[in-house]
Amino acid sequence: VQNDQTQYRIRFEPDGVTTTSENGSNLMQVAIASGVHINASCGGTGTCGTCNVLIREGKVDSVRTSKISLSEYENGVRQSCQSRVRSDLIVEIPPESRLEKAVLARETAKNVADGGQIQVVAKEWPFEPVVSKIYLELEPPTTNDNTSDSERLIRALREQNCLGPIDLSYTLLSTLASTLRFSGWQVTATVLTVDSHSRLINLEKGDTRTRNFALAFDIGTTAVRGQLLDLGRGRVTANAIDYNNQISYGADVITRMVQCQKPGGLGQLQKAVIATINHLIQEMLKQTSTDIRDISFIMVAANTVMVHFLLELDPQYLRLSPYVPTVSQPPLVRARDLGITAAAHTHVWILPSVASYVGSDIVAGIVGTGIYQRESVTLYMDIGTNGEIVAGNREWMVASAASAGPTFEGGGIKHGMLATSGAIEEFDLDSLTLEPSITTIGNQPIKGICGSGLINMAAAMLKAGLISQNGKFNTERISNRLRPGEDGWEYVLAYGSESQTGRDIVFTEIDLDNLIRSKAAMYAGCQTLLQGIGGNFNSVDQLVIAGTFGSRLNIENAIAIGLLPDLERKRFIFVGNGSLLGARLCSFSTFLLKDAGHVADLITNIELSENADFMENYLAAMFLPHTDSRLFPSVTQGMRL
Ligand code: FES
Repeated sequence: VQNDQTQYRIRFEPDGVTTTSENGSNLMQVAIASGVHINASCGGTGTCGTCNVLIREGKVDSVRTSKISLSEYENGVRQSCQSRVRSDLIVEIPPESRLEKAVLARETAKNVADGGQIQVVAKEWPFEPVVSKIYLELEPPTTNDNTSDSERLIRALREQNCLGPIDLSYTLLSTLASTLRFSGWQVTATVLTVDSHSRLINLEKGDTRTRNFALAFDIGTTAVRGQLLDLGRGRVTANAIDYNNQISYGADVITRMVQCQKPGGLGQLQKAVIATINHLIQEMLKQTSTDIRDISFIMVAANTVMVHFLLELDPQYLRLSPYVPTVSQPPLVRARDLGITAAAHTHVWILPSVASYVGSDIVAGIVGTGIYQRESVTLYMDIGTNGEIVAGNREWMVASAASAGPTFEGGGIKHGMLATSGAIEEFDLDSLTLEPSITTIGNQPIKGICGSGLINMAAAMLKAGLISQNGKFNTERISNRLRPGEDGWEYVLAYGSESQTGRDIVFTEIDLDNLIRSKAAMYAGCQTLLQGIGGNFNSVDQLVIAGTFGSRLNIENAIAIGLLPDLERKRFIFVGNGSLLGARLCSFSTFLLKDAGHVADLITNIELSENADFMENYLAAMFLPHTDSRLFPSVTQGMRL
């Protein structure tokens, strides 16, 4: 028993973070608690092999599984989620178990630069921010006019055209008398208007109208993106992005939902995302020397599971038929009540969602891009982990989640990874020698394959005849790189001597099979939605591709493998992060915010998982590009579209 109470010192390299831990603690949990990230796609169940670390000094208890070779084990490689601390340790986190922040930073820069080039954006909305600051010079009370301070304040607001009911927060009341008197009756009132309701949330001495800020957040499963908005000038003054800290509990939402059923799990996941949000807020404040007290409002767009985690709501019913969320329009909540480092008066509003797997991020995208204002029909695709699709116009809209799986974010792929440093992005193949020409993100030695790289790879292999249309390697093609492996035939992308991990990086037939399933789900999802409204791809006037993954996509290659429909190329439009765009614009205009509610009501959710047409379309799409070659004339007949 005494031994179990021993404290050990653990140092994580290359960051040099040192912490203490009790004898027998789980090494991955120790890393999470000390803020050190180790990849953990399966959330610590021991099945994914993404959490390997090298024990440079000291001892852990950890049995060897198939995820570690005998020689790796002898050299000190262990699965951190399966290891118990038994002594002081020096633990090295190898490149493949780390996240590369530098690439996220590059993405931020790219988004800022691209901000002005968005082609589809909501139109004709008045600039009327959710939070307004109103400067007031009040008449001091007299014996003839001794109405209460709060009535006096509301009366003054009415004179400034502040109509409709106005609530006063209790916290404001406790300091109201002194603020009015110490300011010489010259104050700035902060009024928050959401859901057609005005709330007086803050009162400051003097005129502070030039300091009126809000934050917009897109909380994604993989990354969280934030913007600091100057509501006075209608400008974005800072951008920040970071991985969602919840990644330590699993790469996809299902793993995290399972994780939060463990005792204390939900709280841990909530705290993890709050830590990311707080970190981003600090970064944006620092970039702009903005005072945290000048931020009165936070607008959030996120998928439904992320919203449940953020509000610490049990998400278990989201994944059980009939897939019911606890709430689709969460109430206004004080930022501090969620653990967000903010002023006492700062409130959070989460945009409305449609269903369990069609969240407020999609509603935000539809509002931000103005698709709901158009007469022509748009197909909106967010190709991420889930793959959400919306089709419609100003009068009707249908939506669905295609359950594309995590393939496009590198999940379920033997050497798959997020689109970070060292991921294969560009890929070509010499049709004679079958030798690859590869470009990685950041031009770093090869570490793995990201989603867009995977699509480029499959398209090039298909074109060169190295893979057949049914997703098998053509073993009659002679190549030194084609060999039988653990998972059937595989193509060696990089040998251990040239890769970042020291191991061969391969593309297997199982990887190809997973890619075909994911692309078939996306394509069949779109097809089924359009059939449901009596149309087909030809009824679509424009196809909007949202999401970070989407902006890396090579359209020709995506069509060549049958992920995207074979439409005229000019009909494709990239919008980048539609969710953040919507959250930002809704912060700038209460009209758009109201429209978000209207859009959520307008969208009809179609569950594809139990839809017979979807299954039929899905099976027909399990081919490269499709079993019906007439649907892909530019690919199969070389027709120019
Ligand atoms: S094997 Fe350790 S996190 Fe998956």
